Amino acid sequence: MKYGHFDDKNREYVINHYETPLPWINYLGSDSFFALLSNTAGGYAFYKDAKLRRLTRYRYNNLPLDQDGFHIYIKDKNTIWNPGWQPTRTKLDHYECRHGLGYSVITGSKNKVEARQELYVPKNDNILLMRVTLTNKDQKEKELDLFSFVEFCLWDAQDDTTNFQRNYSTGEVEVEGSAIYHKTEFRERRNHYAVFFANREISSFDTSRDQFMGVYGSPASPNAVLKGKCSDTIAHGWQPIGAHHIHVSLKADESYDVIFALAYVEVPENQKFIAPGIINKKPAHELLKKYDTDRKFDKGLRDLKKFWNDLLSGFEVRTASEEVNRMVNIWNAYQCMVTFNMSRSASYYESGIGRGMGFRDSCQDLLGFVHMIPERARERILDIAATQKPDGGAYHQYQPLTKKGNSDIGGGFNDDPLWLIACTDAYIRETGDWDILKEKVDFDNDPKSAKPLLEHLNRSFNYTLNNLGPHKLPLIGRADWNDCLNLNCFSRYPGESFQITGPSEGPVAESVFIAGMFVKYGKAYANILNHLGKSKEAKKVTKAFTDMEKAILKDGWDGKWFLRAYDAFGKKVGSKYNDEGKIFIEPQGMCIMAGVGVKTGEAQKALDSVAERLETKYGIVLQNPAYSTYKLNLGEISSYPPGYKENAGIFCHNNPWIVFAETIMGHGNRAFSLYKKTCPAFLEEISEIHRTEPYVYCQMVAGKDAPTFGEGKNSWLTGTAAWTFTVLTQGILGIQPDYDGLRIDPCIPDHVKEYKVNRLFRGTMYHITVKNPDGSEKGVKKVLLNGKELKSDIIPVTDKKEVNVEIIM
Ligand code: GLC
Ligand code: GLC
Repeated sequence: MKYGHFDDKNREYVINHYETPLPWINYLGSDSFFALLSNTAGGYAFYKDAKLRRLTRYRYNNLPLDQDGFHIYIKDKNTIWNPGWQPTRTKLDHYECRHGLGYSVITGSKNKVEARQELYVPKNDNILLMRVTLTNKDQKEKELDLFSFVEFCLWDAQDDTTNFQRNYSTGEVEVEGSAIYHKTEFRERRNHYAVFFANREISSFDTSRDQFMGVYGSPASPNAVLKGKCSDTIAHGWQPIGAHHIHVSLKADESYDVIFALAYVEVPENQKFIAPGIINKKPAHELLKKYDTDRKFDKGLRDLKKFWNDLLSGFEVRTASEEVNRMVNIWNAYQCMVTFNMSRSASYYESGIGRGMGFRDSCQDLLGFVHMIPERARERILDIAATQKPDGGAYHQYQPLTKKGNSDIGGGFNDDPLWLIACTDAYIRETGDWDILKEKVDFDNDPKSAKPLLEHLNRSFNYTLNNLGPHKLPLIGRADWNDCLNLNCFSRYPGESFQITGPSEGPVAESVFIAGMFVKYGKAYANILNHLGKSKEAKKVTKAFTDMEKAILKDGWDGKWFLRAYDAFGKKVGSKYNDEGKIFIEPQGMCIMAGVGVKTGEAQKALDSVAERLETKYGIVLQNPAYSTYKLNLGEISSYPPGYKENAGIFCHNNPWIVFAETIMGHGNRAFSLYKKTCPAFLEEISEIHRTEPYVYCQMVAGKDAPTFGEGKNSWLTGTAAWTFTVLTQGILGIQPDYDGLRIDPCIPDHVKEYKVNRLFRGTMYHITVKNPDGSEKGVKKVLLNGKELKSDIIPVTDKKEVNVEIIM
């Protein structure tokens, strides 16, 4: 069943049924101020860091689900309702939610009143804007009461949900006209406050939740809304909120609108107060003034749309598949930008408290956004590299606000360092900015230790080499890409971390996956060194990855597929000799992407085994057979019930690795049919099964062993976004940025006759037409540049504004 439809022209997903299988959300904000917003106006806002600077509260596992957010209430005689249905859940006569790029519009109608809620965060300002328009569609005059409501979080989201004995006494607010200031802790060590504003005169307000809701009240029926007015309360401790009330009289066909704004404001340390206890509101006044009229609101929204338009116009495809077009041109690219902003910190499944920026996650995310925001990608690489440890190892995570490595979790995830080579290589291919390698970057954020970025890559590479196990394969440490394959940890008691318990970094357990990575990114590193004229070093690197290739084929090959690992006792994992977990997806994808066994036949055998043992109608499961019991020597992977998460779930992140592998083997039909299986746009019709948003990828789909086979979970913040974008655009459509130009090497279904791509690359717009008259799956016969045939398959960089390219397969 569908709950809405794509509106590609406006780059929107339009939801027509408010009771979606799960909240379907959008992200507002692209610089420092962010808000999550669901199709029923649930969500929360924060400044930069969802843990440390949370503006509004959100309760994740509450029931009913998704009750906190940016709701407005309308009281029309005895009916109270919300245009987004929640939290009153009064049945609406009409409902629509349009999620666009960085904005959403929710419209609801009840009893001939239409309420429209338009929300966005403008570029470059720390403010969430929400315009509410009420229209009387009746022939009679209407007397309406409109209420806004936000519940402030006392800044530190973790502390806010735990330290009640303190926090119930600290809440403070000030009210000035239509502006409600939330100033908790401003008196002491904070120099920031929040303000919730209305650009109209208000009839009444509340800042005490107890008064607005009632101590035993509920968001579905707040006391103030039932009463038809607020009580002008000033909160002293407990739960400070912001609620405006406006009485509106509307004649037939008349409309009324008001702009609400939630802003984050910082004040210079020495100008915090204008009088004892009275906060300095000047910077707030200045900010609010920028958006206090419809004209200014509309201009901000236009600017935002132009920003997205410009960002996305650098990569546009026209193929016969509208699903492919909308993924590349709109939603997959958008999701990549959201992962740039959020890493894995804040979604409807990531609380914003748990994880900051992941080292490997952020490196991989970069593969999907580097072409849109190369400058910010550059900065991101340098930030990540600065958390690398002097021995080449990496902190697994860092906090976005401080940009420092997170020592609670530490390092020892032995794939992490190699991802730094992956993202730096992608960045250089995209931009040609070799100078980034000369940038001095700290180790472990210690300026005394700063070395050029190239040295960081060197240490990443050597970190693997310095940590080889008995089969000369890389030691896995606490885990590799699969955070849940914990071969050294032996976590026995509840509450113990699966990853950082026990000896953790043993000398025996090895990962064939990291071995594949080492070959793949070792090749990239050697290319880089050669390009810099460092051929002696390149030779050493080449020898090292060639040896690794041999080690994989000798001790990492299981006969019909690549082995997954050796455990801490030297026993095989992911082998025909195992009863469960005989074959894993990750080493098949990574080793073939690295080219291992491509010429000698192992790669094809491995892909056949994937098709036979792992492929399902909803994608490829992570391993098979699923683990049926918890196994101390394997760790978290076996803690999940069969079919979920890493225990034989369909992990969307590594499905594109197999798609890539198929393109390397030249199998365009296979590649595309696998691509479609996890692609959300192709799953729209089964939203009641898939449940998560049909416009973005989720991390995981329940596998064939799960009772809820096909059910998606953990949408939005996943490396899937970057990898699927990369595999579709580079592997299938074949547009591959290379060091000295653009290579075009499609691998497509044989029925595709032609497609077009506009690709901005190093300042030149390439208008590319791919023709496939003979119905082949791979292989370029002719490359024409502005009508002239090229000898090389790489289209060189030029200073022309645009060029035409024709590819004949
Ligand atoms: C809190 C603390 C307690 C302390 C008291 C006075 O109740 O739990 O340890 O003595 O405040 O500061
Ligand atoms: C999660 C993590 C990612 C990891 C994957 C597999 O998506 O964010 O870092 O690679 O799970 O365990």
